[in-house]
Amino acid sequence: MSEQTMAGRTVLVTGASDGIGAETARELAARGATVHVTGRSADKLRPVAEAVGTEPLVADFSRLDDVRRLADEVGERVGSLDVLMNNAGGTFAPSHRTADGHEPNFQVNHLAPFLLTHLLRPRLAAAGSSPVVNTASIGNLMGKIVLDDLDYEHRRAIEFLAYGTGKLMNIAFTRGIAQRWADDGIVSVAVHPGPVGSSFGRDSWLVGLLYRSPLKRFATISVPDGAAPLIALAERGPDPEVNGRYFSRFQVDGRENRQAHDQAVIDGLWERSAALVGVA
Ligand SMILES: NC(=O)c1ccc[n+]([C@@H]2O[C@H](COP(=O)([O-])OP(=O)(O)OC[C@H]3O[C@@H](n4cnc5c(N)ncnc54)[C@H](OP(=O)(O)O)[C@@H]3O)[C@@H](O)[C@H]2O)c1
Repeated sequence: MSEQTMAGRTVLVTGASDGIGAETARELAARGATVHVTGRSADKLRPVAEAVGTEPLVADFSRLDDVRRLADEVGERVGSLDVLMNNAGGTFAPSHRTADGHEPNFQVNHLAPFLLTHLLRPRLAAAGSSPVVNTASIGNLMGKIVLDDLDYEHRRAIEFLAYGTGKLMNIAFTRGIAQRWADDGIVSVAVHPGPVGSSFGRDSWLVGLLYRSPLKRFATISVPDGAAPLIALAERGPDPEVNGRYFSRFQVDGRENRQAHDQAVIDGLWERSAALVGVA
């Protein structure tokens, strides 16, 4: 039996229906946490929810109303939230639009977790001190945030670059939280899990090609290995030492896009995202 390092802590894991999110949820529950799990597919989420012993919370991040309903449901279930794992994400064809009319890599990877985190802020603050762990990616190095064109209305979006931009936004958001919500005891950290042989890339022709080819065996690490840095950060708790920082697996201050340090980008992304989803 695992050591009960998470006993007494309440955690929400997004993207818990598959990959490193499912693994993280199961492992944190095994270590004693009360784990709530959310994903877009009820069928895929059910076995994970059964394993952790809570009811599944179904929400599709390409619908912001789903995210609002999810926050309400979490609020009804828990008085306080000790850890929020913003892990849902992936690469999506930029030619599609979400139900809210946004470019999907932007909405699913950034805008939806931005909204969810804002709506859950009172629950995080109620815990006294709590970490928000954002699953970012080394792909942030390929990203480019254009504040006046977040939805790619005035330039062509290339799928993997749009994904990388979403992951760069995860780091900028992490920094924004650290700068704004410290008085609530909320600590925010971003992490690249490594190249994980999960279902990652299932929605992408190009990424799927690599992740499903025979190369996968040589180019990727296992799902438990990929989840390990997330689990370590959840266990570490609200350590002010790591507030606003980006880990490449277990290594603090991983390689970042220079925009991740650009205060105008951090502030501009925060303000524009808040306006788009209607939060203060
Ligand atoms: N695998 C890698 O090499 C790698 C590297 C760096 C960063 N990451 C990041 O790690 C995180 C987890 O990825 P993974 O490797 O575990 O991949 P995965 O197996 O594809 O898991 C992704 C999770 O996100 C969920 N998700 C996708 N679109 C969603 C939507 N519209 N609404 C709600 N949930 C949605 C998926 O739900 P379904 O089960 O319904 O699809 C699944 O639970 C992602 O943020 C990814 O960007 C992965």
